[in-house]
Amino acid sequence: MQDTTQSPEKIMSHAPKISFAPLKPSLAGTVVVLADENLALGAATKRALAPAGQLLSRAAKSEGFKGKLGKSLDLIAPAELPADRLIVLGLGRLKDLKPTEWIKLGGKAMAKISSSAKKVTVLLELAQGSVPADAAAEFALGMRLRAYKFDRYKTKKKGDDGENGDISADISIAVSDPAAARKAWASREAIADGVVLARDLVNEPANVLYPVEFAKRASALKKLGVGIDVLDVKAMQKLGMNALLGVGQGSAHDSRLVVMRWNGGKKSDAPVAIVGKGVCFDTGGISIKPAGSMEDMKGDMAGAACVVGLMHTLAARKAKVNAVGVIGLVENMPDGNAQRPGDIVKSMSGQTIEIINTDAEGRLVLGDVLWYTKERFKPRYMVNLATLTGAILVALGQEYAGMFSNSDKLSERLTEAGQATGERVWRMPLGPEYDKMIDSKFADMKNTGGRYGGSITAAQFLKRFVGDTPWAHLDVAGTAMAASSSDFNTSWGPGWGVRLLNRWIKDHHED
Ligand code: BES
Ligand code: MN
Ligand code: ZN
Repeated sequence: MQDTTQSPEKIMSHAPKISFAPLKPSLAGTVVVLADENLALGAATKRALAPAGQLLSRAAKSEGFKGKLGKSLDLIAPAELPADRLIVLGLGRLKDLKPTEWIKLGGKAMAKISSSAKKVTVLLELAQGSVPADAAAEFALGMRLRAYKFDRYKTKKKGDDGENGDISADISIAVSDPAAARKAWASREAIADGVVLARDLVNEPANVLYPVEFAKRASALKKLGVGIDVLDVKAMQKLGMNALLGVGQGSAHDSRLVVMRWNGGKKSDAPVAIVGKGVCFDTGGISIKPAGSMEDMKGDMAGAACVVGLMHTLAARKAKVNAVGVIGLVENMPDGNAQRPGDIVKSMSGQTIEIINTDAEGRLVLGDVLWYTKERFKPRYMVNLATLTGAILVALGQEYAGMFSNSDKLSERLTEAGQATGERVWRMPLGPEYDKMIDSKFADMKNTGGRYGGSITAAQFLKRFVGDTPWAHLDVAGTAMAASSSDFNTSWGPGWGVRLLNRWIKDHHED
């Protein structure tokens, strides 16, 4: 099948250029400075703004700006300063300022910068002294991520009148130790690129990003030294992956499975495995979904997108870990050849599944992918991400992903990584009472568990395919397809999970 849009390879992505400089800045273009709740500035900042005299304190007074965290004061063409614009960003009480705020502050700063700006200088300095290198890099990451837009299909670009254009400014971040900041930025830039890759994949429409095309995009990680295997339908048939294949059988697009291997660790170390649900479009199949918001189901591959983004990040920053990413790519369509409710399929594990609802397709895909990953790689940990259930939105909204795990240790670590990155997870229960709910009259199990506890019975289903491997399932239906915006994201798919899992790997799987 052909796609009917322009070829995305031809479209250059636009990202602002970020560099670090020492704190003796020239105040040209847009200038961003930091102020605490007493409106106190750093020493170099004070010196730079000295020619403006009382300008800042007068403007702050008239605007009621008190330097509260995340609030800002915006001065256009300030007299006595060579800057075109001065943005004062509030930090609040410095001793209350948490490390997790810096990425948001970077996002806030970027939100204030006009697309017509050519040159931006940020004076990253505190009244008490310097901003740590890690904080500076997090600030830069927030700027990069906030500048992201998915507009490759808009033929009329905005921007001539200032609003909504692409920010292509050169951004110079002035800090006391630029070399240290640059070093901290190198790994953050790898994160930024991974998140942007995940966002692009989630936003891409399903007429462009079907399984074969998705596999092709994932295969581009080869350039970074990632080993790639792509399994086609025949290869999966041979392995007995009938649960996954059953979901894709109604689609004109063939299913694929992609394995991505990054070997940055010791040869003898078993890998960590990250598994993603890649339903490129979920109509529900024969148990078809209602029309309202069905277009969002192009994002039902957000788990797989996160895996690709993460593998990009790990390879780009040359992480000292053995990691394997495995994604199951299918399209769930109604068709004369589509799977029916009542059908029974035999999964790769040998367990049989009665299909009750063809819209509970993610677990069918993951059942085979988890089993395959466990058998082939014997991973030390296995984490899967999936936009698995609407019920997790009912339970947790869009703030936390649901976490289901057979390992307290893994759960604790992921919870901590969630707190540290702001990509938070909330542990949900598993148990034999819930497991019973998916026993089937005709097969070993059925693919839905009835009205109650929908996210839990879905997780119980997955659990039947992981054996004794320490495993966590993250139900990201609320977090990874969210339309809600944050300080460092205004796009529809936030690229959720890349920063979380990168952090978990960095803290626990690199020596
Ligand atoms: N992809 C959906 C889950 C989903 C729903 C993600 C809303 C994002 C937003 C999944 O395949 C699905 O359809 N799940 C069903 C399961 C049910 C049939 C047991 C659901 O949640 O309704
Ligand atoms: Mn579905
Ligand atoms: Zn789905």
